[in-house]
Amino acid sequence: MTTTNRFAHIPRERLPALLQGMPKAELHIHIEGSLEPELIFKLAQRNGVSLGYPSVEALRAAYAFTDLQSFLDIYYAGASVLLKEADFHDMAWAYLTKAAAENVRHAEIFFDPQTHTARGVPMETVIKGLTSATSKARRELGMSAELILCFLRHLSEDEALETLEQALPYREHFIGVGLDSSERGHPPEKFERAFSRARELGLHLVAHAGEEGPPEYIWNALDVLKVERIDHGVRCLEDPELVARLVRDEVPLTVCPLSNQKLCVFPDLRDHNLGKLLEAGLKAMVNSDDPAYFGGYLNQNFTDTFGALGLGAGQAWQLARNSFEAAFLDTPARERYLAELDAYFEGFQ
Ligand code: ADE
Ligand code: ZN
Repeated sequence: MTTTNRFAHIPRERLPALLQGMPKAELHIHIEGSLEPELIFKLAQRNGVSLGYPSVEALRAAYAFTDLQSFLDIYYAGASVLLKEADFHDMAWAYLTKAAAENVRHAEIFFDPQTHTARGVPMETVIKGLTSATSKARRELGMSAELILCFLRHLSEDEALETLEQALPYREHFIGVGLDSSERGHPPEKFERAFSRARELGLHLVAHAGEEGPPEYIWNALDVLKVERIDHGVRCLEDPELVARLVRDEVPLTVCPLSNQKLCVFPDLRDHNLGKLLEAGLKAMVNSDDPAYFGGYLNQNFTDTFGALGLGAGQAWQLARNSFEAAFLDTPARERYLAELDAYFEGFQ
C-alpha cells in the first residue's frame, strides 16, 4: 500500500481546501475529550458542580501537559460536570455538529463509562444520552456514528468485566470495546479475560497501545487481546518485526498527531512519524483524540500535520481511504464512502 502520485497535479496552496472538504472517517475520538471549557462551565452551573477553576480562561490556561498522565488528571476533572442524560447528549451533539461541518462522514466514538459510574451516574444515563445524539446525527446531519465502550486500564480487570456486564442491557447501542487511560504499567494482557468476554459477545475490539508504552504492548494487544485496530501505535517503528506484522495483517493505526505533540510523545509536530508510517505501508489515518484539549478537531490535525511534514494530496487521499477501510462499516456503506472519496478527488479543482 504505497501512497499515490495520482493527485500530484493538485497545487500545495489548495491543500487546506482539499483537506477541509475531503470526506473522511474519525475512528479515535474520546467524547469526554470533546468537552470544551465553555460547555464544562455551562454544565457545572446547570448541575451545581463546583470546579477548581474560576473561569473558562483559567481552565484553558491549565491545558499545558507534560505527558499522558498530566492530561488525564485534568480530563477526568472536566468530566465531573456530566450528570444527566441531557449532558451526555449535549456533549456528543456539539462534537457531531463540528465533525459534520468538517465532512466527517462516519465517526466511531469512544466513551469511558467508569469515569461516570464511579460518581454514581447510571450506565443507562450515559448510553442513552450519547445514543440520542448519534441517532440525531444520522437523521439530521446525514453522517453515521457509532459508540465504542472503553475500559480504564488504570482500574482492575474485574472492574472492566463488571462494567461490560452493566452495559449489556444496552448492547445494541455500542459496536465494540477499547482500552484507554494510563498506558505505562498497565499492559494489554491485564485485560485478557475482559477482551475475551467482549469477543464472545461479538463486539469489535480495539486498544490504545504504543502511545507512551513500548512496542511489546502493541504485540500483546494483537496476540493476547486480539484487537482489530491499534489506537496510536506510533512507537511501532522501533520494532521492524512488528512493522512487518502490522503491514502483513493490514492492522489499522488510529494516529492522533496533535495529541502526540501536546502530550510530548514527539517534541514537535515536525518530528511526527506519520509520513514514515505511510511510507512503511502501514494503514494509518488521522484522528483528533481529545480535540477540546489538544488544540483542534480533525481538520486542524490534518492541516497542521500536512504543513509541518510537507505531505501532499496523495497522502491525503491515502489517509482518508485508510479511515474508511479501517472503520467497522458494512460493505455497502464502506463502498459508498470510498466512491464518494474518489469522486471528490477526481472533481477537485
Ligand atoms: N483517554 C483520553 N485520551 C487518551 C489518550 N490519548 N490515551 C489514553 N487514554 C486516553
Ligand atoms: Zn485516545
